[in-house]
Amino acid sequence: MIRKGKILVVDDEASLRLLLSNELTRAGYSVEVAADGESALQRVREDFFHVVLLDIILPRMDGVSVLRTIKAEKVLSEIIILTGNATLESAIECIKLGAFEYIRKPYSINELIIQIERAIVHQSSQLDRRLLKERLSKRDGGSDTMVGTSPPMQQLRAMIARVAPTQSTVLILGGSGTGKELVARSIHEKSLVGSKQFVTINCASLPEHLLESELFGYEKGAFTDAKEQKRGLAEIADGGTLFLDEIGEIPHHFQAKLLRFLESGEIRRVGGTKDISLNVRILCATNKPLEELVKAQAFRADLYYRLNVVSILVPLLKTHREDIPLLVSDIIANLGFRKRFHEEALALLAQFDWPGNIRELRNVVERACIMSSHALIKNADLSFLNLSVTPPPVVLQSGESAATTSEPAPTLSLKEVQRRHIVAVLQNVKGHRAKAASILKITPKTLYQKIKDYNIVSVFE
Ligand SMILES: Nc1ncnc2c1ncn2[C@@H]1O[C@H](COP(=O)(O)OP(=O)(O)OP(=O)(O)O)[C@@H](O)[C@H]1O
Ligand SMILES: [Mg+2]
Repeated sequence: MIRKGKILVVDDEASLRLLLSNELTRAGYSVEVAADGESALQRVREDFFHVVLLDIILPRMDGVSVLRTIKAEKVLSEIIILTGNATLESAIECIKLGAFEYIRKPYSINELIIQIERAIVHQSSQLDRRLLKERLSKRDGGSDTMVGTSPPMQQLRAMIARVAPTQSTVLILGGSGTGKELVARSIHEKSLVGSKQFVTINCASLPEHLLESELFGYEKGAFTDAKEQKRGLAEIADGGTLFLDEIGEIPHHFQAKLLRFLESGEIRRVGGTKDISLNVRILCATNKPLEELVKAQAFRADLYYRLNVVSILVPLLKTHREDIPLLVSDIIANLGFRKRFHEEALALLAQFDWPGNIRELRNVVERACIMSSHALIKNADLSFLNLSVTPPPVVLQSGESAATTSEPAPTLSLKEVQRRHIVAVLQNVKGHRAKAASILKITPKTLYQKIKDYNIVSVFE
């Protein structure tokens, strides 16, 4: 039997707990009981209850304090006060504190069940609204405007300006963290529907059955939990832009349904019988090589061709390193720090390949700003950068000449010189780490970390 909701009954009177528990279980709810305020609070912190039926006079923490704490901790349960000591003042106070309803004992079980049902419906709509709000405003605190004056960024901007005012579906391609989502927002803002809503759905984060109901919505009764009809994100985006992020992750079976929507502009809610016509601008993005997925038959060719009419390739950061100084200032300003990078530190940043692109740059800048205590960030503050680069492994050979570092080439990075020196020292001491650490005047732990970071594989072990 599918339970209609989880209820926690909090009352100090054992006979009433038993009675309510029986009545509500019979009505189809799953019921737990608590005899005092503190254990009630503990239970709602541990577990999710749709509704808490709360008495006011309770041992070890009264009902009003429980209510106040539950609301302060933003626990999602709805609270129905059920009390024999009703006064107008306490009723007003409880409602002000966020109780859903205030019922006097003796109660009528039918009335109580009606209020529980109302509370559950209210809760689910609140929850939807909250999730939607989070989804609509989901940003990672990064820049809202695209920074960069390099030729690749100029080309990117020109491309955006060209496609934005059209109705075309645009496929945004590029490595991870290159700024695909930012490009999508920028296309939306410059489009004819720029003042309307921009709705994002991340296709990678939902299993297939949820993807369909999230995107297309569902009718009441379409499945067990579908107690109310619900509009999908495509409908919510009607009149504006729908951004399908990580489109390469769409399950094969769902691809046909998506294609149908793209071609006809119509959707059908899960469990529905009629088609709903929408006017939505579609943008999508992926860091997957879609063409290869098509060859491997993981992505439908017809969908690929439909999406690929207009595509934009967002450049890798290593192809426009000259934008790094501007990006760094923008990132620092966005994060709210009052710091800047020394020119040498900027030059150091320009040497890396940035596999995680602008997002990785952002993380590095943030970390340096947090870690350094001064306003001017120098190379020394970036020593942790070793961590983000994985060079090919260096294999230590026994009996091999160790004379690799006597004269470091002037083109080598500091990191590479360090790595070679560590390799040489390790070879001299035949891989004995404690000895090597003592020669290098670092702790064995630091040495261990560096061996790992530099991917040094030793044959002495
Ligand atoms: N041109 C740019 N100027 C300033 N900030 C940028 C630029 N491009 C990207 N960013 C910032 O870099 C971060 C990553 O960008 P975004 O989320 O758009 O990348 P993505 O390509 O969608 O990444 P993923 O592949 O991980 O989904 C964000 O904080 C964004 O604000
Ligand atoms: Mg993205």
